[in-house]
This record gives sequence, C-alpha cells and structure tokens, in this order.
Amino acid sequence: MRTLEDLLDEDVNGRGVLVRADLNVPLEGPDEDRRITDDGRIRASVPTILALAEAGAKVVVTAHLGRPKGGPEPKYSLAPVASRLSDLLNVPVRVVELAAGPPQMVAGKVVLVDNIRFDPRETSKDPAERAALAQELAALVGEDGAFVSDGFGVVHRKQASVYDVADILPAYAGGLVLAEVEVLRKLTESPDRPYVVVLGGSKVSDKLAVIEALLPKVDSLLVGGGMCLTFLAAQGHSVGDSLLETEQIDSCRKLLESGKIVLPTDVVVADDFSAEANTRTVDVSEIPDGWKGLDIGPASVAAFTKVLAGAATVFWNGPMGVFELAPFAEGT
Ligand code: 3PG
Repeated sequence: MRTLEDLLDEDVNGRGVLVRADLNVPLEGPDEDRRITDDGRIRASVPTILALAEAGAKVVVTAHLGRPKGGPEPKYSLAPVASRLSDLLNVPVRVVELAAGPPQMVAGKVVLVDNIRFDPRETSKDPAERAALAQELAALVGEDGAFVSDGFGVVHRKQASVYDVADILPAYAGGLVLAEVEVLRKLTESPDRPYVVVLGGSKVSDKLAVIEALLPKVDSLLVGGGMCLTFLAAQGHSVGDSLLETEQIDSCRKLLESGKIVLPTDVVVADDFSAEANTRTVDVSEIPDGWKGLDIGPASVAAFTKVLAGAATVFWNGPMGVFELAPFAEGT
C-alpha cells in the first residue's frame, strides 16, 4: 500500500492532491443555521490535510454529508464543516460547487468540494457514470495530481470519489486510514487473548463478511443491535415487528454453528420507534407481535459484561441498541 509518507517523499509542492475524507458529522438546527454536534471526524481528518497543505500541495478535499437524494439540499451542505475545518487547520477552506468548473487553487490552501453526493453519479451503480464523475474530480488536480484516500468510514463504498478516482490517479493511503489499518492488522493477526469482539448496528448484511473473517480468530463474538434480531430469528425466535433481514437468516444460522457467537437473552421492546413509545423488557423467546426489539436487556448486559471482563482484547463495532433514543441507550 502506498502511503501519505511516500507521497510527501515525492514532493508535492505546487501539485494538486485530491483527498477523500469522511466529514459525515452530526448536525442540528435549522437548514440555514446548522451546527455541528460532534466534530470528531473533522479533527481526525486534519493531520493528513495539514501535512499536505504544509508541504505546499494544492489540496482539494471531497466528502459527503448524509444521504441527499442526488441533488443539492441546503441541509446537507458542507459549509458548516468547511468553517470548522478551517478553524482546526488554521488555513482558509473554500467550499466550491463541482458544477462551477475547476476552482482557482493555491499552493498550501484547501478547497472543499460541496457534498459530493449532490451529484447522483457519485453513488451510481453504473460504473460508466461513476467513472465520468471520477474523471472530473481527477481533472481538478491536473496532470501530475495524486489521490489520497483518508475517509476511513467510507472506504468500503464503491463510489466515484472513493473507488473510481483511485483507478485514474496514483493513489495513496492517508494517515487516518493507515492508523486504522495498523489497529486492524493487530486485531486480525496477533491479538492478546482472550479476544472478544462486540458487534452491533442495524444491518446484518453489512456485517456478515466481517463476522466470517473474524470468527476463526476470536474467542467470543457478542452480537447486539438491530442485527441481533436476524440471529435470534435464526435460532427460531419470533421477533415481532423488529428489524429483520429474512434473506440472511440461513447465513446467520451457519455462523451460529461456530459456537462462538453470544446473543442477547433478553431485549427491550417498544410498540413504536420513538422515545415516547411504551417499552418492556422481555426474554428473547417472548417478543410480542407488533413490538420491536430496540435494545439488549439487562440480563444480556450482565452476560456480555462477564465475557468482556475476562477479555485481554476487545474490539467493538456498532451500538447495542437505538442509543440515540434514551429508553434504548442502556445496552450501548
Ligand atoms: C458513515 O457515517 O458511516 C460514513 O460516513 C459512510 O456513510 P454512508 O453509510 O452514508 O455511506
């Protein structure tokens, strides 16, 4: 893997460098006055962008925010992000529209292309459409341009600014991606044991490949979050109105044969997906029809805690419930 260090060694002074960052931060407030509630991802992106700017590169950053419907929407503009990024970098960050054509670029300064998902080609399933957008992005950094992939949270997406540009420009892994890869290398090659993985989040289909890859390496794998309902269905439980990916039930059943997967034994169920819903804690064999499992229950928390207490390495990915809503935050 070519790295940011390799690129800096080549000398980027005056060269255009396209950086894909993950600046998908939570915002609140009215469309015309959106405020960032957690700038963690912006902070995490600073070292790579700053290293390039300080080396004299003409930096063009692309990023997405939320999931706009393929056209500009004010609430998904990256303008508030640009302002925070500029404060953190102490370098001006100018927001540009891709449709406005190649921006004026200055060595050591940063340009941020507004939400790349405003262009429907970014997420198109048609490789030709994505390639056309990738060509436009590559053109922004000119003949001797380079691409730095640093949006760790988005590197798994086959999208124009993430995947297709790397076919066109010489590509390098940024500092954030390298740091994450280093941690993952340790976790997949030489973890201290017992090694316990905690997986949550809503979509089991997004995580099956991860589970398959990790199972031979882990001592225990604890599963919570919306995804655990499909595993519970694979165990033969009825899951009411919970999130369920029926087409994944067979895959979950096969994974359970490993004997290493620990599932919740109780869940917090609700009659609605809201903080005001009626809630109950029930055994996983008693999820009522019409109710949704939205968090792991206290007996599961105790059981998971016991396994975790004996671990030498814990790898945690994804919440145990709908933690954004107070009644379902306890498990996480
Ligand atoms: C995330 O928040 O998980 C990343 O930014 C990727 O966003 P996405 O799930 O909308 O592709």
